[in-house]
Amino acid sequence: MTIYNFSAGPAVLPKPVLEKAQAEFLDYNHSGMSVMELSHRSKEFDDIIKDAEKLLRDLMAIPDNYKVMFLQGGASTQFSMLPLNLAKGRKAYYVVAGSWGKKAYTEAVKLSKTIPFEPILLASSEETTYDHIPDIDSAKIDKDAAYVHITTNNTIEGTAIYDLPETKGVPIVADMSSNILAVRYNIEDFGLIYAGAQKNIGPAGVTIVIVREDLLNDEPMLSSMLDYRIQAEAGSLYNTPPTYGIYIAKLVFEWLKELGGVDEMEKINREKSGLLYDFIEQSDFYTSPVKNSKDRSVANIPFVTPSKDLDAKFVKEADALGFKNIKGHRSVGGMRASLYNAFPRQGVLDLLEFMKKFEEENK
Ligand SMILES: Cc1ncc(COP(=O)(O)O)c(C=O)c1O
Repeated sequence: MTIYNFSAGPAVLPKPVLEKAQAEFLDYNHSGMSVMELSHRSKEFDDIIKDAEKLLRDLMAIPDNYKVMFLQGGASTQFSMLPLNLAKGRKAYYVVAGSWGKKAYTEAVKLSKTIPFEPILLASSEETTYDHIPDIDSAKIDKDAAYVHITTNNTIEGTAIYDLPETKGVPIVADMSSNILAVRYNIEDFGLIYAGAQKNIGPAGVTIVIVREDLLNDEPMLSSMLDYRIQAEAGSLYNTPPTYGIYIAKLVFEWLKELGGVDEMEKINREKSGLLYDFIEQSDFYTSPVKNSKDRSVANIPFVTPSKDLDAKFVKEADALGFKNIKGHRSVGGMRASLYNAFPRQGVLDLLEFMKKFEEENK
């Protein structure tokens, strides 16, 4: 039976990457050691991390005045690192269009009890359970603020921001965890980008941070591990980094480059997700909770049947047929198909066949 992994993260990785890692598992590049056994200060690992950075810079067209870091602690640690490093004594705006954006804002509010800065909710669609991207009124933005935080892709709710808000020159900071490398963004439109690796980049444990140099803190931070400048100046080697995860990320970047890069990937993703969206749209059995089609995520596609009981039945039957992890997030229910870069087109076609059959049997 073919297994299709629809998990929102950790998620499906490209087969050729896993095969390459398997082939190199016991003996990396004639070192007689696994990558896992290499010192992070060794020549071999130095080449790996430098190549990984170079490939990511090429893929995302990251300008030289941006630093790239491979950190730890997940995207969730960035919810605190960000205000800690960037917002001291200033205002920081949050656009909350999903559960993760809400978490970022909530963490900022919590931190503001001990560090002087002012987190401000700029826009939210919480009242309608994040079924759309809220409008942003730039007249409300103080141009001296530290940043405007957005989530480019709402993993749980299946919406995305493609057109960035006008922020009067205040840097946009983005949690890009679930659509980094899936669609093209212009890096110069952002002050800082962060993303957990476990969706489009590699295994859990690596967090990518891309930051414009002039935003790096001048004063030392609370802790060296939480200090962007220290981490950036140490080339992500201030302490022992997640070496194996960075190695897999490098392989994924090579795979993506070979495939044609981010623009080609976006084309593939739009076509792939379009198949599912078109099917849901013409069906009167399945519905999408996303209100506006312009907000649709290419990466995470939630949908429901007419009842919770049928949703549960769908998940159960799908699972038995090899469509794994298609249950929606526990906070919203229903189903969610995460179609990250490595998810095969054939998996969508097979899912559509199953959806048609399920509809006929349960209508
Ligand atoms: C958009 C977004 N932000 C943040 C997170 C949290 O990431 P982590 O588990 O790496 O802290 C997730 C996890 O799925 C996410 O999808």
